[in-house]
Amino acid sequence: MEHAPCIEVVNLSKVYRDPMRIWRTINAVTDLSFSLEPGEIVGFVGHNGAGKTTTIKMLMGFIAPTAGRIGIFGADPGDPGRKKRIGFLPERPYFYSHLTGRELLRYFCALSEIPRATANAAIEKTLQKVGLADAGDLMLTHYSKGMLQRVGIAQAIIHNPEVVIMDEPMSGLDPLGRHEVKEIIRELRKEGKAVLFSSHILADIEDLSDRVLIIEKGTRRFFGPLADIVLAQDIRWRVSFSAPEQEHSLIFSSFKGAHLADGRFSLTLNTEQEMNAILPSLIERRYTIVAAGPVYPTLEEIVFHMKDREAPHG
Ligand SMILES: Nc1ncnc2c1ncn2[C@@H]1O[C@H](COP(=O)(O)OP(=O)(O)O)[C@@H](O)[C@H]1O
Ligand SMILES: [Mg+2]
Repeated sequence: MEHAPCIEVVNLSKVYRDPMRIWRTINAVTDLSFSLEPGEIVGFVGHNGAGKTTTIKMLMGFIAPTAGRIGIFGADPGDPGRKKRIGFLPERPYFYSHLTGRELLRYFCALSEIPRATANAAIEKTLQKVGLADAGDLMLTHYSKGMLQRVGIAQAIIHNPEVVIMDEPMSGLDPLGRHEVKEIIRELRKEGKAVLFSSHILADIEDLSDRVLIIEKGTRRFFGPLADIVLAQDIRWRVSFSAPEQEHSLIFSSFKGAHLADGRFSLTLNTEQEMNAILPSLIERRYTIVAAGPVYPTLEEIVFHMKDREAPHG
């Protein structure tokens, strides 16, 4: 089976000149390598200013790299044929607000040179996909933030591209809005599309990405499946239980680090053995065991602790 990556980035760097002090340079992206395979979701994460937008701009061919190589389906980002195969949602997109959703998409159909005969069907299908079928005739002034973001995604996918690149698609949305965007991204993967999306919020990419690309100050910290950075030593063990009120002070005195929240105690241990050693005494005292098992670190904790750790993927 032929297996060419949709995007291949090798040793990419971008040095900006500071517009205020031209003798000063900013290393926005340094020696960055990664790839995007067909049908996968790659979450691109880093704090504000880490270099995500700069990288995406280079992928889109908006700015030229200082060094390194980018292959988009094996071709240069500037290759004219590439446009049809990639969809793009910019960070904070701006749309003329006196258009309706349908009108906006019709405009983008024209930009993508979608023939008039097929444009209407493409518009309806896309509105459906992003959950705006009923709002298509509403002017964008009346759209919520979440709806605007979804119409932004609609313009990125209207021409049925194989790859979709989104810069901070969930930024500024409330939990429901984030959920809706995540669902759309999952649907895109089901259709076999490859998605690269950036976020400065680790929780957004955690449950969605097949692989994660973590950058810090323009430099790659990690690229690979998230499971690969969750090392055994990061896993802790927790038992949650409830106990009668009159036992509470006894519990606090006999278990160092016992934590009480919402009427439930939890004890966090470093090893499974330690947890198993405690369980019998809890059962003996007739406490109700609510849960006992491993606790995985959040991506935030992993990245925080990664400072002293080599990325497992070279
Ligand atoms: N056009 C530019 N000129 C000079 N510096 C820039 C320019 N664009 C971005 N930068 C700087 O490059 C770094 C990376 O920015 P950016 O790629 O926007 O990060 P992110 O999208 O991860 O927040 C930041 O230090 C930013 O200030
Ligand atoms: Mg950005």
